[in-house]
Amino acid sequence: MPKLIFRLFLTFIVFVGIFILIQKLLTPESFGEYGHYRANSLDDNKMRTSFYKGDAKCTECHQDVYDLRETDVHSGVRCESCHSPKIDATTDCKVMPPIVKGTNKFCAECHATNPARLKKGVPQLDFKEHYVKQNCIECHNPHAPWELKEK
Ligand code: HEC
Ligand code: HEC
Ligand code: HEC
Ligand code: HEC
Repeated sequence: MPKLIFRLFLTFIVFVGIFILIQKLLTPESFGEYGHYRANSLDDNKMRTSFYKGDAKCTECHQDVYDLRETDVHSGVRCESCHSPKIDATTDCKVMPPIVKGTNKFCAECHATNPARLKKGVPQLDFKEHYVKQNCIECHNPHAPWELKEK
């Protein structure tokens, strides 16, 4: 074998060796146990706090809002679809309530015309035409949209 090729070959072997060594050092423990991920991450995720509470929990303290919502079209929309979950097991709703501002932008998240969304299910609206100068909640109660306060 010519010397040049031999050196090239040797360098190649050394690089491959270094690569395998570094890969071994950097691969986290338990990687690949079940698949192409770190098996221990399952336990890590199980330890994380769950923020989602569900309507039944909210209703324990906010029965009035629940009752109102049940009377109208938003009865199918869960509390935490609008009030993003942020009360974990250690925080109190009184201290850190999941307040949402009833801005037009907020209602638009579900009701603005969106060609990617089915027309059925969530009614879509042309926000450029429907009472654009006013805030939605000046007329529609967010918990009972057809309870109109005409202005
Ligand atoms: C242990 C009782 C309790 C539970 C459970 C609870 N809350 Fe509350 N919440 C309160 C209290 C007390 C206040 C503060 C007093 C008030 O304004 O009613 C409050 C305040 C709020 C506010 C702000 C009210 C305001 O005046 O601006 C919102 C919004 C709210 N809660 C939503 C929720 C949602 C959504 C859930 C379910 C994920 C929930 N709460 C679960 C007791 C509770
Ligand atoms: C369609 C979205 C939506 C849903 C669903 C919804 N909320 Fe609200 N909620 C709002 C908005 C917007 C406001 C703020 C209204 C304002 O600024 O006057 C609000 C205000 C509140 C407040 C404080 C003022 C008030 O009216 O008492 C409480 C408490 C509350 N929500 C609890 C709940 C609970 C409990 C549920 C589930 C039973 C729920 N909300 C479902 C949008 C929603
Ligand atoms: C998380 C998504 C969501 C948000 C945010 C939301 N809505 Fe809705 N809304 C719905 C769904 C879903 C329906 C249809 C419910 C059904 O028909 O069963 C609906 C129905 C309505 C209707 C009745 C429409 C009809 O044709 O009968 C009105 C009015 C309405 N919403 C107003 C509002 C206003 C005002 C806001 C902002 C305060 C708002 N919505 C925020 C999901 C949402
Ligand atoms: C001035 C009062 C007023 C304001 C402000 C207002 N609405 Fe309405 N909305 C109404 C009335 C009245 C109707 C029923 C008649 C109609 O369709 O015009 C209605 C109808 C709707 C419908 C049902 C439309 C349909 O075709 O079925 C939705 C959804 C709705 N509004 C959402 C909103 C949203 C979101 C906002 C904020 C951008 C908003 N509204 C602002 C008074 C209002």
